Amino acid sequence: MVNYEKILKENGQEHLLKYIEMGNKEQKENLISEISKINFNQVNELYKISNKDNEKAIESCLIEHTKFVDKYRISNDEFEKYKNIGENIIKNGEYDVVTMAGGQGRRIGHNGPKGTFLLNVNPKPKYLFEIIADGLKMANEKYGITLNWYIMTSTENNDKTVKFFEEHNYFDYPKNKVKFFKQGNLPLVSEEGKLLVDENLHIKYAADGNGCIYRAMQQGGVLDDMKKNNIKWIFIGSVDNAILNMVDPILLGLTVSDGNKIGSKSVVKRSPQERVGVFCKKNNKPAVIEYTELPTEMANELDEDGELLFGESHIMCNLYSIEALDIISKNQLPYHSAHKKATYLDENGELIKPTKPNAYKYEAFIFDGFTFFDNISILRGRREEDFAPVKNAEGEDSPETAIQLYNNFWKK
Ligand code: UD1
Repeated sequence: MVNYEKILKENGQEHLLKYIEMGNKEQKENLISEISKINFNQVNELYKISNKDNEKAIESCLIEHTKFVDKYRISNDEFEKYKNIGENIIKNGEYDVVTMAGGQGRRIGHNGPKGTFLLNVNPKPKYLFEIIADGLKMANEKYGITLNWYIMTSTENNDKTVKFFEEHNYFDYPKNKVKFFKQGNLPLVSEEGKLLVDENLHIKYAADGNGCIYRAMQQGGVLDDMKKNNIKWIFIGSVDNAILNMVDPILLGLTVSDGNKIGSKSVVKRSPQERVGVFCKKNNKPAVIEYTELPTEMANELDEDGELLFGESHIMCNLYSIEALDIISKNQLPYHSAHKKATYLDENGELIKPTKPNAYKYEAFIFDGFTFFDNISILRGRREEDFAPVKNAEGEDSPETAIQLYNNFWKK
């Protein structure tokens, strides 16, 4: 048996011995087994980035404005060219769609996987998952195909998600074409770098961020499955955009024509404060700076036309060739830390519900995968046709604004 006492002491985590003492036989065994699986080197490395000044790190890089193509300013000839290229790939069955659904609906006050949130749209309310299923069914009909639909879940929400699909008969999407795969977890640590324990005496974990999708696709056999099916291009989108266009031949045709392995859609950033990542070139590579890390000065910077210099919003509408996914999945993406409130059991066995952030969570960001390439094709779309995010309980980017955008879009 592993000498867990020694391991814990060596890694400054001996406080966990108290929790082992606290538990009944089963809890003790579970906790010891969990401890034996922890990668302490990784925990120590992650803790080192906890207090990193992200804005300073950005300021030390060479950050430049990035080029994009406006979908509504393309000449008719070019539009037709991109459309033909894109549609041929789609009709040939070489295109698949992935939905990232590892997140919970906490920010909108929904207790469950975010995709199970019901949006009160016209003519009848639909779940976010149902909106996606309907979008894919429409594309299938239009192009005479049946797209494979891969859905990334997390440890926290996988069972509930699968059950939800079963209960709703997969929203009439062909069940054999819907495939779930799970992302991983990382431990939470306290401000002092200590692992946290929950009320059932389990080590506290959280999802490892949407950037872990690449590895999850590789480890979950998704990439192999796609290669077996001769898939050449893959769209990865979020679960919480009510008008996400998952099958856009123009984005695909543009990316192929540009000779790029990756592409993405953008919309003009509404204001310097909007909580979206922005596209840029970072040290000469395509990149996105997340809203939590964008220095205020850069967020407000204007170009010669008076538009925001970093004004192309990342709307989580990303396209990859299968080679691109292969390349990214073999690399380790950096982790970003976030200071969060985490309920935990203290060493006296008392449950502590903090009122201010007390722990660090570590996440990889999907767009950090872009930096493995020299270029990306960015297609600027329009907010009213591409982006109706459901992020907040009320106000901007809430169910209310998403419903309005959805209803207007479908009325048109
Ligand atoms: C995200 C983007 C941001 C973008 C915005 C647009 C990242 C890191 N940030 O921010 O650049 O402008 O969306 O709406 O991508 N998810 C998982 N697993 C996780 C975390 C998230 O599957 O561990 C999924 C969610 O279910 C959702 C998507 O990723 O589909 C976006 O996640 P969310 O945490 O809501 O991102 P934002 O902070 O809004």
